[in-house]
Amino acid sequence: MEMGRDTVRVWINEARHVAVLTGAGVSAESGVPTFRDAQTGLWAQFDPQELATEAAYRAHPERVWDWYAHRRAMLTKAEPNAGHLALAAFARRHPGRLSLITQNVDGLHQRAGQPDTMALHGALGADRWLDAPRACCEAQAPQDGRPPACATCGNLRRPAVVWFGENLPADALGAAESAVADCDLMLVVGTSGQVYPAAGLALAAQQQGARLVMINPEPTELDSIADACLREPSARCLPYLLKEFL
Ligand code: APR
Repeated sequence: MEMGRDTVRVWINEARHVAVLTGAGVSAESGVPTFRDAQTGLWAQFDPQELATEAAYRAHPERVWDWYAHRRAMLTKAEPNAGHLALAAFARRHPGRLSLITQNVDGLHQRAGQPDTMALHGALGADRWLDAPRACCEAQAPQDGRPPACATCGNLRRPAVVWFGENLPADALGAAESAVADCDLMLVVGTSGQVYPAAGLALAAQQQGARLVMINPEPTELDSIADACLREPSARCLPYLLKEFL
């Protein structure tokens, strides 16, 4: 039997703890292209997975810095959408009942007022040092440039996002794993489910007995283990699913 959105609404109502894992699709209706769709114009010639690595940054710091500047520029016009807002309203109205885990680096869940967002892949709006900072790096503001750098030792600034091949922030991943272990329902929203360990969280939830719901207009690699697949955009679906909680 095809489980529809009214069934999922009952599951949410019954759930003690809802874990939500979001991907780029939850920001699509805010006008932020999904990670794999962002490659337009000058950037169409590059595979994002070849730009978002430390090796690429060390080899072509200006090119990769400019790519992140391009993505940051696309973000300036973006606002949280009805899906972000519905999740944040639910979490504020039901403290401790909804854990929000995101792969997104666009900061839109946080700007929607989502408490305690677990940002597995970091934040596009923040920078950090490429190499461990020395006293000289902290003693003065970085010298402007593409990228900015320490005027004394040349240490480069880098976007505070997780690159392919890098470890996820241990605190965010640990908190996400705990939420997944404890939840009795997991909503997987707007992710192609191709990237681990994030996608592995859906597997872990299902294996510990939680119900699993996919919210995505397209099929994903996780559909086969889901209890329900809602084939619709998240900015329309989430307010409906959560509305009596707003
Ligand atoms: N509502 C819900 N889902 C949507 C919508 C929408 N309006 N529009 C698109 N989608 C879905 C697409 O069908 C796709 O399955 O969002 C998903 C986006 O998939 P990706 O572009 O692969 O983004 P994501 O799954 O977040 O990628 C995961 O991989 O590349 C790394 O670090 C990067 O965080 C990213 C991670």
